[in-house]
Amino acid sequence: MGNEPFLFVVMGATGDLMAKKLLPALYRLFSKGHGRDAVILGVATRQIGDQGFRAFAEESLKRSGLRPERDWCSQRLYYYSLKGGFEGLSKKVKEIEARHSLPGNRIFYLALPPDAFPSTIEGLGETGLNRSKGWTRLVVEKPFGRDLASAIELNNLVGRYFHENQVYRIDHYLGKETVQNLLVFRFANAIFESLWHRDRVERVEITVAEREGVEKRAGYYDRAGALRDMVQNHLTQLLTLVAMEVPVTFEPDSIRYEKVKVLKAISSPSKEDVVFGQYVEGEMDGKRVRGYREEEGVRPDSETETYVALKLEIDNWRWQGVPFYLRTGKRLPRKLTRIIIVFRRSPVCIFRPFGGCEANPNILSITIQPDEGFDLYFDVKKVGQPVILDTQRLCFRYREAFGELPEAYETLLVDILKGDQTLFVHREEVEESWRIYDPLLKETIPVHPYRAGTWGPETNPFPKGESWTGL
Ligand code: BG6
Repeated sequence: MGNEPFLFVVMGATGDLMAKKLLPALYRLFSKGHGRDAVILGVATRQIGDQGFRAFAEESLKRSGLRPERDWCSQRLYYYSLKGGFEGLSKKVKEIEARHSLPGNRIFYLALPPDAFPSTIEGLGETGLNRSKGWTRLVVEKPFGRDLASAIELNNLVGRYFHENQVYRIDHYLGKETVQNLLVFRFANAIFESLWHRDRVERVEITVAEREGVEKRAGYYDRAGALRDMVQNHLTQLLTLVAMEVPVTFEPDSIRYEKVKVLKAISSPSKEDVVFGQYVEGEMDGKRVRGYREEEGVRPDSETETYVALKLEIDNWRWQGVPFYLRTGKRLPRKLTRIIIVFRRSPVCIFRPFGGCEANPNILSITIQPDEGFDLYFDVKKVGQPVILDTQRLCFRYREAFGELPEAYETLLVDILKGDQTLFVHREEVEESWRIYDPLLKETIPVHPYRAGTWGPETNPFPKGESWTGL
């Protein structure tokens, strides 16, 4: 199925996502032999015509270090300005399909600002673009809603025109090799699985740290904030993969079912278990960095959080009583996505009388990006007398074993072509995840300042530093 000809329609085709992620991924896939007969139709409001869009595409590919094959842009790329309405779009789609003898397989990719989702879905549905002779798939980018009510409303709207098996809700973290590996790591290695529960695990920490500030996305970000932008989706997805039960099979429905069960067992955190922060002017690499409120497009009195740290509890047999700490922020000292499992210490340290030392907990540190891999920390005896314990680690590095890793978007696009929904978020997952955070969105949570280039607000009940465990 992955190699059938299809039409890839991108709604929001002149935006950043298209330029930086989708076009490069589409072109790389094309170079690797996927979708060689595919045609791309860019749709946006600007009136730039086919030529203008091709020039935009060439420029974007060049910026990503790619040199498009001669004729790729001129023979495979078209543009439609939505100023001509959805009926016009439907006509254009049919024209292109006839010209390229395409069988009617269509992907509609919504790379749009969230407020444009409803009218676009309705436009596609009302003009009959949700049905064709071949297959039709709808890809929806995050954020999927801005709270529980709007997510349900959006799901209902999608459901009015598309069947759930046509819908691909993107969380690009699920496309990262290292995130997919979490399932293999857990369910192919029985030694870890046998330790993966409340009797052996003291706590779990999930960090997604970013160096970048809000960049050019203030228009969206200032109304969203880190809780909606990162925690409700990426961090919560990581949590479900760490915490879920073993699925019966490696099939999309089995996996999604287990993920939903974890989400259902999480209650909303109380206000006391949440810290919000916002970066103020600071220094990174010896250079002055602007504060969030000085960024272009941000309201000067904005109270939007650019940092969140919170504690969740999962009320099920496996995890009851084990805190899960989630933390993310912009303008932190370095880019790092890491999951840390802290195992319980040995109940009695028999070495204390000798060297006066404590046994350290065993720690499994899974680095999602960069420097992808994992480290298992354990204690050894330092050479010599008296007996002193020293922490050492076993390491695995993805790139040393396998070389370059594919971009998440490439992986996800291939799955959309194949019709594999495993790495996409089910309707119920989105709603359950919003249910957890919805009460916080209605609270007034103080936003503490932190200097750009530091690890977050000082006013923080959670452990501080690059790693909460002091690694
Ligand atoms: C996006 C968020 O979903 O993920 C951005 O909207 C964030 O704010 C980005 O920067 C992080 O993705 P990655 O893959 O660079 O960790």
